[in-house]
Amino acid sequence: MKTIDDLAQEGVAGKRVFVRADLNVPLDGTTITDDGRIRAVAPTIAKLAGLGAKVIVASHLGRPKGAPDPAFSLAPAAERLGEILGKDVAFATDTVGESAASVVAGLAEGQVAVLENLRFNAGETSKDDAERGAFADRLAELADLYVGDGFGAVHRKHASVYDLPGRLPHAAGDLIAAEVGVLKKLTQDVKRPYVVVLGGAKVSDKLAVIDNLLKKADRILVGGGMAYTFLAAKGHEVGISLLQKDQIPVCLEYLAEAEKRGVEFVLPVDVLVSAEFPDLKTKAPAVCEVVAADAIPADKEGLDIGPKTRELYAAKLADAGTVFWNGPMGVFEHPDYAGGTKAVAQGLLDSPAFTVVGGGDSAAAVRLLGFDENAFGHISTGGGASLEYLEGKTLPGLAALED
Ligand code: 3PG
Repeated sequence: MKTIDDLAQEGVAGKRVFVRADLNVPLDGTTITDDGRIRAVAPTIAKLAGLGAKVIVASHLGRPKGAPDPAFSLAPAAERLGEILGKDVAFATDTVGESAASVVAGLAEGQVAVLENLRFNAGETSKDDAERGAFADRLAELADLYVGDGFGAVHRKHASVYDLPGRLPHAAGDLIAAEVGVLKKLTQDVKRPYVVVLGGAKVSDKLAVIDNLLKKADRILVGGGMAYTFLAAKGHEVGISLLQKDQIPVCLEYLAEAEKRGVEFVLPVDVLVSAEFPDLKTKAPAVCEVVAADAIPADKEGLDIGPKTRELYAAKLADAGTVFWNGPMGVFEHPDYAGGTKAVAQGLLDSPAFTVVGGGDSAAAVRLLGFDENAFGHISTGGGASLEYLEGKTLPGLAALED
């Protein structure tokens, strides 16, 4: 994989460089609630601009339906990028239309522009190779060089991620290089015990990674919504908690496999339950109680791991050599259900391990709950991407940069 430094040797001054970033940040209206992904890619953009490139930054945001939708505009992200870079950032209100053409034509050496959301064009995410290719052809007209640095999107076979690099001389950006360096370490030479903490809502999203990690990890700690399908698989009542009944057989298989391999598979021993989901807007105090994980009342749902589980998980992290954590332990967006996620974050910090926080919700949680992100070994910008990497899959956006 070529790097930006290789490109720099060949000379980028005056060249139009298309940077595929992942500026898919959480928004509350037009307010960015976590700018981690913008800050993570900013050094690549600054470096290219510093080398005299004309930098064209492109990304998706959310999942619009292949047509412009103001709710998913990248304008707030472009503004934030300008603040972080400390310079004016131009904004094109389309991707391959008149606005993009004129904004790019107006760029001087060292200047930066952001294009509107790539997913406002159906060609970006199309399953049809020709439709995706046609969009990539038009994007290619805007630039001389391509830098892939949207790690969070490398698992998507999308036009700007997969097809475009084949049409332009390309290199990996510094963020992708750093992310791949860390994840490679997790697959090749881990310091043991290797402890994996998995949370988040759906067990189905995590099955493939569990399958792979059962061969690599020493301990797997489970929390969040996905824990209830495992608890149900063990025969416990889970009330009205999140449950994917159809996944129970595979959960049972994994529990048996873990036992066979001597992998500690740890489930919550107690949980915080309530008859109602909390109001995340008003954050009104929740009416909840702690119950044993095998005694969830039929009319209640589990919304966080309980105090005994927090202590247990902290103890299981205390002697770790390596930790990978993906997915919150509960509804951390509400203060009454943030305790489990906080305890795991603190457990990572208190352990001597090399700690990796997989992106998405867990990365946002770490920052929103006030932890110092620099205290962790690595906070990935890719949720799905880091999981798929650890599943051992070939990621289209990385494969395209290899050639
Ligand atoms: C993410 O948020 O994981 C990435 O930005 C990819 O987004 P997507 O799941 O909508 O493709």
